[in-house]
Amino acid sequence: MTTTEHSPTAAGAGASATQAFRAGRSADTGAPEVSAERISDVASAVLDGVHAAIRAKKVTYGEFQAAKQWLIDVGEGREWPLLLDVFVEHVVEEVAAEDQHGTKGSILGPYHLPGQPKLPSETTLPMRPDEKGVPLMFTGQVRDVDGNPVVGAELDIWHADDEGYYSGFAAHVPDGNLRGVVVCDGQGRFEISTIKPAPYQIPTDGPTGKLLEAAGWHPWRPAHLHLIVSAPGHRPITTQLFFEGGDWLKDDVAHATKPDLVLDPQPHGDNGLRAEYNFVLERI
Ligand code: DHB
Ligand code: FE
Repeated sequence: MTTTEHSPTAAGAGASATQAFRAGRSADTGAPEVSAERISDVASAVLDGVHAAIRAKKVTYGEFQAAKQWLIDVGEGREWPLLLDVFVEHVVEEVAAEDQHGTKGSILGPYHLPGQPKLPSETTLPMRPDEKGVPLMFTGQVRDVDGNPVVGAELDIWHADDEGYYSGFAAHVPDGNLRGVVVCDGQGRFEISTIKPAPYQIPTDGPTGKLLEAAGWHPWRPAHLHLIVSAPGHRPITTQLFFEGGDWLKDDVAHATKPDLVLDPQPHGDNGLRAEYNFVLERI
């Protein structure tokens, strides 16, 4: 583990994630109408689960009040997106994936920023002139379920830097760093030069970090690339790619790894790595 002068502050990451979530919501059009019956059904099931846990674990009044205080702190620390994406989103994704074919999905997480600049199929992600980290060339092709190249495919890609920080969510990282929308060529191919991200640590100084510490859980996610792969006439896939042999691969705090989503990078050039991944999209 490396130590740096930058701490993964809750104020810097959790709060910006809340802001980004709100901004994304206000851009949404036509939020789905949810019936009273559906709300009652799901809310009752959630409450049944909480009641069952209280009975099974014989939760005391002291613990109930401490939980209330902690929930207040999560809101005031603006960490709800962070907390829900770490502990809950993987199950929402699992349910969504039940009828999804092609490349496996994974969680979106709190750090996607829409509307990044479009980049050509052979490209280098925006990065600082002295960007630290092992150079990574990430190549591959977007195909349909029959193996045909997909025309018009785009890869919205974002990832942490060599210290585990995301641009837009850490004050010292320039906006747009290590983010972009790569437009694949006529054969659905791409060749992206970037750096290998470091494992990501959930901010440890806010209420989410307090829970992790109090429960004796570690705050780490394995190194990963985030991707939304899309093409006209095809169902978009939100996913993540991990690195063979990396720390926390078998013990992701967000439970978002899948065996199909692990890259096996090989040495490339002087001191770099090259990894290939072919995405498969379903037609709609
Ligand atoms: C969180 C961070 C991530 O990078 C991710 O992929 C998922 C969740 C989080 O801090 O909640
Ligand atoms: Fe992430």
